[in-house]
Amino acid sequence: MPKFTLNGKEIPFEPGETIMQAAWREGIEIPHYCWHPGLSVAANCRMCLVHIQSGRQMEMPQLAFDSAKDEYVPATKPKLQPACQLAAADGMVVSSTDEEAKTAQASVQEFLLLNHPVDCPICDQAGECRLQDYYYSHQATLKRKLTEPVHKPKGVRFGPTIVYDAERCIMCTRCIRVCDEVAKDHVLDMRERGNKNEIILAPGRQLDHRYTLMTEHVCPVGALTSRDFRFKARVWFLKSGPGICTGCATGCNSHIDYDPRYGKVYRLRPRDNPDVNKFWMCDDGMMTYMRHETDRLDMPTEGRARDRMPIGEREALELAADKIRAVDPSKLAFVLSAQHTTEDNLALAKLAGALGADRLYLAALGGWEGDDILRSADNNPNRAGATQAAGGVELGSVADLLNDVQSGAVQGVVALGWATAESLDDLSPLTSLDSFVSLTSHVGALPAVAAVAVPVADIYEIEGSFVNEKGIMQTFPVVLPPPVGIEPAWKVVADLAALLGTDAGFQDLQGLRRSLTDSAEAAQ
Ligand code: SF4
Ligand code: SF4
Ligand code: FES
Repeated sequence: MPKFTLNGKEIPFEPGETIMQAAWREGIEIPHYCWHPGLSVAANCRMCLVHIQSGRQMEMPQLAFDSAKDEYVPATKPKLQPACQLAAADGMVVSSTDEEAKTAQASVQEFLLLNHPVDCPICDQAGECRLQDYYYSHQATLKRKLTEPVHKPKGVRFGPTIVYDAERCIMCTRCIRVCDEVAKDHVLDMRERGNKNEIILAPGRQLDHRYTLMTEHVCPVGALTSRDFRFKARVWFLKSGPGICTGCATGCNSHIDYDPRYGKVYRLRPRDNPDVNKFWMCDDGMMTYMRHETDRLDMPTEGRARDRMPIGEREALELAADKIRAVDPSKLAFVLSAQHTTEDNLALAKLAGALGADRLYLAALGGWEGDDILRSADNNPNRAGATQAAGGVELGSVADLLNDVQSGAVQGVVALGWATAESLDDLSPLTSLDSFVSLTSHVGALPAVAAVAVPVADIYEIEGSFVNEKGIMQTFPVVLPPPVGIEPAWKVVADLAALLGTDAGFQDLQGLRRSLTDSAEAAQ
């Protein structure tokens, strides 16, 4: 593999790669604003200028101060090159840290801040802003410009999700390129020149495609802010954990940003995964965090509609076990969930097996519009994992379950999760069942028709895995503690198995994982 030297370190590269790409892959940061690994090269910010010390040196004329003569005299300086655009060459010697490069970085930084409002105390980007970071690492000089800065539009609503502040904008064009290249919608552009430059909307348009939050995500400064997140939290109070989006069967990788003081999630951000989502997420996926605390079932209940009453946790489990015991296993239905982890589904399938029940069904949301960018038409994150958990048993649909209940073939149900395409009205035949146990993190149509509802932990509160539509299994850890007294669904199933006096064949999550691996190996 060819190599070049960057700041004294040898960097291997693939032919055709730029200096920036190769350095980025090696974990070395060359300061940059406009370059993004997922977008085309614009090379307009000039923050990445590096000194190519090998080969023929290109020189630029300049005036240098000669103190002996006490005047400026003609001189030259090396012509620096943008690392984001210059292809790496074998044996090249590059510096991003010598005096020439450092002077360029400080000068570009000073130039970008000439007309900047420096309103960090009220800017949502503060704490994760490149202008702030690079000011400290590459400039750290006092402002020399004493005249009034150029003023531009502030607080411009670009659409339902994004607000633009032209004074903070450094014209890197990342937002334009994300619309053009990721969302395939040329809705943003640039107008004017020099310090009058600003980002504008296409005439008659709003920024309203399905990837608008990616413009905010790539903006290296506080010029684009998300209407959902702005003014809600300061990023230095937030912690982050890895997650998998629950929005659809693509399974985009995310960072879950939450405030540990309140256990509150404030936003999701894409987590790079070249095999799944590259650098991106869609708007709907980015907003799935809101489900987490909306409509949670926070205590066990008994009864339906107006008769629904809160009950104790132990009482609920015992009641659920009684309801299951009251039905002959051949008439007992177990409903897996395409919104739950493979482990939760496997636990329920194993309980069904241990009880000798072989009627398995799958509840899932009914689909949404997919695209050829990221979104799958299946808006369930784990249909494949739930199907795998059934271990070859054919899964009926909720419509099949309704038929089976109406025909009398099913007289009791244990259902995982809240999500189903059917409405409350559709599910009304299920209210005839006295033995309907729901294990759910949220309220919804399925729990609403249950005779006993036992709360279980939500997705950010458990570790587990999803299998996406390409068959890629992705695990995720616990990010937030569940509410007091609430356990993961697989644990509730294990407790139920113990109360029913049966051995479901697993004691813990590791046991479940092992049996998943065993059955995958057996299937090969
Ligand atoms: S709004 Fe942000 S991403 Fe767009 S050009 Fe300005 S600084 Fe760059
Ligand atoms: S494409 Fe699907 S998985 Fe990815 S962010 Fe959107 S909803 Fe989530
Ligand atoms: S990152 Fe190279 S010019 Fe902007």
